Amino acid sequence: MNIKEIIDVYISFFEKRGHKRIANSPLVPENDPTTLFTSSGMQPLIPYLLGEKHPQGDRLVDVQNCFRAVDIDEVGDNRHTTFFRMLGNWSLGSYFKKEEIPMLWEFLTKELNLPKEKLYITVFAGDGGVGKDNEAFEIWKTLVPENKIFFAGVDKNWWSRSGVPDNMPVGEPGGPDTEVYYRFDDLKHNSECKDNPVECECGKFLEIANSVFMQYLKTEEGFKELPQKNVDFGGGVERLLAAVEDKPDIFQTSLLYPVIKTIEKQTGASYGIKNYELRIMTDHLVAGVFISSANVKPSNKERGYILRRLLRRSFDNLYKLKTENLEPIIETIVQQYKDTDPYLINNFEEIKFTILEEEKNYKGTLSRAKTFIDKKYPGKEAEGVKEISAEDAFLLYSTHGLSPTQIRSLGYVFKEEDFAVLMEEHQKLSRLGASQKFRGGLADTNERTIMGHTATHLLHKALRDMFGDQLHQTGSNITTERLRFDFNFDRKLTGEEIEKLEDVVNGKIKENLPVHFEIMPLKRAKELGAIGLFDEKYENDVKVYFVGDYSKEFCGGPHVDFTSKLKRFKIIKQENIGNRQRRIYAVVGE
Ligand code: SER
Repeated sequence: MNIKEIIDVYISFFEKRGHKRIANSPLVPENDPTTLFTSSGMQPLIPYLLGEKHPQGDRLVDVQNCFRAVDIDEVGDNRHTTFFRMLGNWSLGSYFKKEEIPMLWEFLTKELNLPKEKLYITVFAGDGGVGKDNEAFEIWKTLVPENKIFFAGVDKNWWSRSGVPDNMPVGEPGGPDTEVYYRFDDLKHNSECKDNPVECECGKFLEIANSVFMQYLKTEEGFKELPQKNVDFGGGVERLLAAVEDKPDIFQTSLLYPVIKTIEKQTGASYGIKNYELRIMTDHLVAGVFISSANVKPSNKERGYILRRLLRRSFDNLYKLKTENLEPIIETIVQQYKDTDPYLINNFEEIKFTILEEEKNYKGTLSRAKTFIDKKYPGKEAEGVKEISAEDAFLLYSTHGLSPTQIRSLGYVFKEEDFAVLMEEHQKLSRLGASQKFRGGLADTNERTIMGHTATHLLHKALRDMFGDQLHQTGSNITTERLRFDFNFDRKLTGEEIEKLEDVVNGKIKENLPVHFEIMPLKRAKELGAIGLFDEKYENDVKVYFVGDYSKEFCGGPHVDFTSKLKRFKIIKQENIGNRQRRIYAVVGE
């Protein structure tokens, strides 16, 4: 079974059980300000897990492209990647543990034919104010010998986007989970390691499936039950492929091994010896291909910075192996993924250009950094290695964008402890910036955020009325402090235009229009002239939010119930964000 077959079998298994397939959401989320990239299948479904009605019903299935920057430093072992595909099935209050667990077991053992004796289970042991999951344990006992079921606490068997209960912000949903592990019988594994996925650290067990019982909402007072008991299942396709092929290393599966082989051919390095470098290169270039395909360009900010970091890390490894020929590697990646992601073929030239151009820029940066140091520390090269101050090393990091490893690999040494102190301060500041920037947003239920969300619908409509229907939203980011709205437009708005937009939106606020949604066939929504992007392939029914009969827009919600709640709308700033797009910042409320 190859990767595409696993995906197809999974989707049809759940479709036969009443699930509607939903489209893969973009890797760069359109309406979720809380994150730079889609990092799990459930992320686009947050409003529905919180209780909003989903247009496709209460049983959903999909495969979602995901990117997790937090895993970047883990890459290099046999199982971690930053980019992966996640199979997902959801019950939005439809079924719960006693249906989910047997369905999952049937999929793994009958559809994928994984040998039962190699599967191990973990269940939530209770912690963080939530009790032990005896119910899941009892259900598993009817399917699996008891000695293969293990209990674990919040650090392993609790899932929320922010991790353990203590880290969850108010408004965040989460819950206990149950996980399935596959055991590899590779003889190289440490024989003293326990036959237990919770304690084993030798890599013998691979987590292949995770059913989250998403039933809690974090509030100021602790956990409260969500309006419905949800199931949020996620299974990494690349890991399932490793289990199906019984390969204890996902880089040796039929999906990724051809990429490794191409790198071996280009560099002359052998995977057996240089597996760490080759894994990093493979993962980072795969992620680089997908992120570039989402039209992100390397830069020093946000998504662009992550793309830059991934690409430059892979270039470093490439240079270490003394080659620069990237093209065949990019080509192999696109070939390997084209069956599941055919658009990569159309975007191939653009992807290649983005990556090769960044490689050129990187070489320029390295040479500028060298010139800077050579000027500042002339003639101190007797030993071949220059000692530079921690401040200068930090400057290479903060202004030239070189990582500490890259600085070391240019041959420079510096006081590591002093550098670490500077780095710590810098990270503290950027964490603060990031948390301010991504705080709030549609993913929470904060009143002010929801007000900002409704205001974006009014602004969108006002802009289209003013400039025509070719104008559309290209992004948005809403926090409790302000809303940000991006749209395709290639000039500055005049002072009068800004005033007129404010007047129109404020007029609609004064009219106190009711806001409601309707779930309707896609065709009908189009006839009504509802604004929005949709995927004709899977979505039969869509959810449309109406603001009076002024604005009609495809949207997941949530929104205020009456526009007067917005009180007042004011545009505070506009800017050009490139690619013929403009950005408006605005505030609502008193
Ligand atoms: N949300 C869970 C995960 O990402 C299951 O879908 O692992």
